[in-house]
Amino acid sequence: MASHLLLLALLAMACSRAIASDPSHLQDVCVADKMSQVHVNGFPCKEAKDVAAEDFYFSGLDKVGNTSNKQGSSVTAVNVAQIPGLNTMGISMARIDYAPNGINPPHTHPRATEILTVLEGSLFVGFVTSNPNNTLITKALNQGDVFVFPKGLVHFQFNNGTGTAVALAGLSSQNPGVITIANSVFGSTPSIADNIIAKAFQINKATVDLMQAQF
Ligand SMILES: *[C@@H]1O[C@H](CO)[C@@H](O)[C@H](O)[C@H]1NC(C)=O
Ligand SMILES: *[C@@H]1O[C@H](CO)[C@@H](O)[C@H](O)[C@H]1NC(C)=O
Ligand SMILES: *[C@@H]1O[C@H](CO)[C@@H](O)[C@H](O)[C@H]1NC(C)=O
Repeated sequence: MASHLLLLALLAMACSRAIASDPSHLQDVCVADKMSQVHVNGFPCKEAKDVAAEDFYFSGLDKVGNTSNKQGSSVTAVNVAQIPGLNTMGISMARIDYAPNGINPPHTHPRATEILTVLEGSLFVGFVTSNPNNTLITKALNQGDVFVFPKGLVHFQFNNGTGTAVALAGLSSQNPGVITIANSVFGSTPSIADNIIAKAFQINKATVDLMQAQF
C-alpha cells in the first residue's frame, strides 16, 4: 500500500513537472545562439567552448523603472532575451515599478506561472479563473508578501499604497510572453474590425473607436 502511494506521488510529481513548465533540458547548459539560422522551439545551443560567465549574467535590476506613462508602471524583464544562458531552463524574472495609483494592467503570460513578491510599498492584486469561469481572486499585499498568478490567467497589480511600489517576479518560462488584454484587443495591427469588437463587448461602434484610439 505504502509503495503504491509512493509510486502515485512520484507519478504525480513527474506529470506536474512535465506540464507545468518549459520542457526540461537534456544537458547542463544550452546557451542561446542568437545568430543561428536554425529555428527550433527555443534557441539552438552555442558551442560549449564558447560559453562564458557573461552568458548567465545581467546587471541593472537595482535601477528604478520609468513609470512616467499612462499606466504608471514599468516592467524590466530578465528572460532569455537578456540572459542567453536561460535557454531551456524554464525560468525567468522581472522587476516591476509602480507609481502611486499605478497599475500593471490586466494581462496574461501564455507560457508561465508567476510568483511575485513585494519589495517596497503595497499592491492590490488579482487574477480571474477560467474554471469556474470568471471568478476574481484578489489580495492586498504589503512589503514581503508573496502571491502567485497561475499560468495563462488574466491578472493585474494596482499600487494603492501611499508611495511608490516595487515587486520582483519569478516566471516559470525562459520566455513567458505577455498579452496585455486592452492592447491586444483594441490595439492590434491591423485592427480587429469594429463590428466584431462591438458585438463581442456589446457596445456601439463609436465606443469601439474611442477605445481603439487609446491604444
Ligand atoms: C521617462 O519616460 C518619459 C516618457 O517616455 C520620458 O519623457 C522621460 O524622459 C523618461 N525619464 C527618464 C528619467 O528616462
Ligand atoms: C459561466 O459560464 C456559464 C455558461 O457559459 C454562463 O452562463 C455564466 O454566466 C458564466 N459565469 C460568469 C461569471 O461569467
Ligand atoms: C488596497 O485596497 C484593498 C482592497 O480595497 C485594501 O484591502 C487594502 O487595504 C488597500 N491597501 C492600502 C495600502 O490602502
